Amino acid sequence: MKKIILITGWLWYIWSHWVVAFEKAWYKTVIVDNLCNSNISTLDWIEQILWYKPDFFEIDLRKPHPNPLLRGEGTRSIINWKKELWNYWLEDIFKKYDFDGVIHFAGLKSPFESQKEPILYFDNNINWSIVLFDLMKKFNIKNIIFSSSANIYSSNNISPINEQGELWPNNPYWTTKYILEQLLLELAKFSWFKVISLRYFNPIWAHKSWEIWENTNGIPNNLLPFIMKVAKWELAKLKVFWNDYDTIDWTGVRDYIDVIDLINGHLKAYKFLENIKINGFFDVFNLWVWKWVSVLEIIKKSEKVIWKKINYEIADRRDWDLAEVYCNSSKAENELWFKVQISLEESLENSWNFYNK
Ligand code: NAD
Ligand code: WQD
Repeated sequence: MKKIILITGWLWYIWSHWVVAFEKAWYKTVIVDNLCNSNISTLDWIEQILWYKPDFFEIDLRKPHPNPLLRGEGTRSIINWKKELWNYWLEDIFKKYDFDGVIHFAGLKSPFESQKEPILYFDNNINWSIVLFDLMKKFNIKNIIFSSSANIYSSNNISPINEQGELWPNNPYWTTKYILEQLLLELAKFSWFKVISLRYFNPIWAHKSWEIWENTNGIPNNLLPFIMKVAKWELAKLKVFWNDYDTIDWTGVRDYIDVIDLINGHLKAYKFLENIKINGFFDVFNLWVWKWVSVLEIIKKSEKVIWKKINYEIADRRDWDLAEVYCNSSKAENELWFKVQISLEESLENSWNFYNK
């Protein structure tokens, strides 16, 4: 009998890869998503790989919000909730399925937007995660993998940062991740939740079947979708945010993890959690690849893959950007048997193959 996993906020980017990996690992996945930053067409992509569509419910983790700001007078489609589309309350999902655990991905994730709308982020990412945690407690579901972010580490840390690094997020979005980790720690202590929080920065790209990718409908958030759109002449030029950092070539240095490796890290974390027999457990793991690159290096690597020059210009830094941030993931390697399989070059090739298809 397949164990049933609830996946919140699945219908885009990272999540869609997740379902393929977990369904192939003999879990049944049930997905809820409010489609505020995703597209129902992802289900079709999944069907092309799995030959079936997983159970999906268009639902918002939230209940009707009393705050008029969040009832359509705001500035973001997410708050124009399509109430009539709420075919299920989240609680009905818990009644309908005997869940073994939860993978909690749902959340808004733009550092820039969170600076403009911190209350929206606190409300969406924190308040409504509490709705989820409350239902988990009510239905006695203990296992949860939480998608955190390596941006909760403070800028005082020296990279590579391990899990003991100082925590001090400097952005409202990252603060929601930090607070949710703290809430889950308390739930592990007092409600016997079994929690693994995974901290990662920069997931990149397309499923090797080329069927799943991050389809940036508008202006992308992250570096690689920008590079690909410039390569496709969908955007005129890449802006390199600042070239005066104290790094190897003065541009930002990060560690980019292929989303398939990232999802496999989640799969290993879930299996690890299943074997934890004690009541109440909380741990955190960095998921990283140990191959950090600068912006200019990644542009050069991309040019080799796409056989084209990437036009770019130097622009001012983004105020939330750090110069050099990457982590040490030996704890995940030793305890979760997490091993990176996909190189940056392979990720770039997969991505370009899809974008150029
Ligand atoms: P994403 O925006 O593609 O996925 C988040 C999903 O959650 C979207 O499908 C969105 O529609 C859904 N969602 C948001 N609020 C919701 C709500 N109230 N109710 C129901 N669904 C809701 O983001 P992603 O890149 O796939 O990231 C997934 C998770 O991983 C997020 O929690 C993000 O914070 C975290 N993360 C992402 C990155 C990254 O660089 N992409 C890095 C570290 C951590
Ligand atoms: C990478 C590097 C930029 C775009 C973000 C979120 C973080 C996490 C992962 C959720 C940086 C530079 C980028 C561009 C550029 N998501 N860059 N021109 O900022 O490391 O992390 O995604 O947790 O919260 O902040 O990723 O891809 O935006 O930037 O020069 O057009 O590329 O300055 O050095 P980042 P990114």
